[in-house]
Amino acid sequence: MSTETVLEVKDLVVKYGIVPAVNGTSFSVKRGMIASIVGSNGAGKSTIMKALTGLLKPNSGSVQLYGEDVTGMEPDALVARGLVLVPEGRRLFKEMSVGENLEMGAYRQSDQMLVKRNLERVLELFPALQNRLKTIAGSLSGGQQQMVAVGRALMAEPKLLLLDEPTIGLAPAIVDTIAEIIQSIATEGVDVLLVEQNAEMALDIANYAFIIERGEILLQGPAAELANSEEVRKAYLGI
Ligand SMILES: Nc1ncnc2c1ncn2[C@@H]1O[C@H](COP(=O)(O)OP(=O)(O)OP(=O)(O)O)[C@@H](O)[C@H]1O
Ligand SMILES: [Mg+2]
Repeated sequence: MSTETVLEVKDLVVKYGIVPAVNGTSFSVKRGMIASIVGSNGAGKSTIMKALTGLLKPNSGSVQLYGEDVTGMEPDALVARGLVLVPEGRRLFKEMSVGENLEMGAYRQSDQMLVKRNLERVLELFPALQNRLKTIAGSLSGGQQQMVAVGRALMAEPKLLLLDEPTIGLAPAIVDTIAEIIQSIATEGVDVLLVEQNAEMALDIANYAFIIERGEILLQGPAAELANSEEVRKAYLGI
């Protein structure tokens, strides 16, 4: 198995005003893996995702993507390097159609043949969207809207896909569907970094995981090992 490092985050500090939300966090993601960051409400998960994708500037620390220093780079430059975020709360253009939302993800791609091919791939992954391309996105169920959000990110041709709580608020059956889709995306060769409050799902599909509390990585290891550790079971799995 390859151990190429996809993402290397070192001593990342991100503050809102003077208050640090991410407090010297270091972690790395290896090629061919699903990595998860698990943490409860307010732990700093979204702040990390925003700092990684250029939506927030880190106060200090460094981020390397496929060996290149991308610390503080603008969102568009990061998308161009294959780093694409499915944001918390989906952030769809709710008044626009499903098809228009998906096309938005392909804004950087000028080759219309490629856009068409990527759209076909997205519709294969999400058969539920096939007959809904003209439907207004805001009228879909929560699960279908999440599918559009993931599909839009795939239209940007990610090499490393970041997902911020893709299953929050969804019914258990839909959580399973989204989990399976994330696994198929990884199988197709996209590296995945998933952040979740849903520890059970995140540890179930991840190869490697990090537990974060108050902006610091508390524990890390192979996901199956963490899922079996007493500490994690008590605090995050309610067992
Ligand atoms: N825009 C902001 N201004 C000030 N403080 C913020 C802001 N956004 C987040 N915070 C604070 O930073 C900390 C980390 O928040 P963050 O949104 O990263 O947590 P999270 O792990 O994503 O939580 P959740 O699971 O609820 O989405 C929290 O204490 C939060 O209150
Ligand atoms: Mg969050």
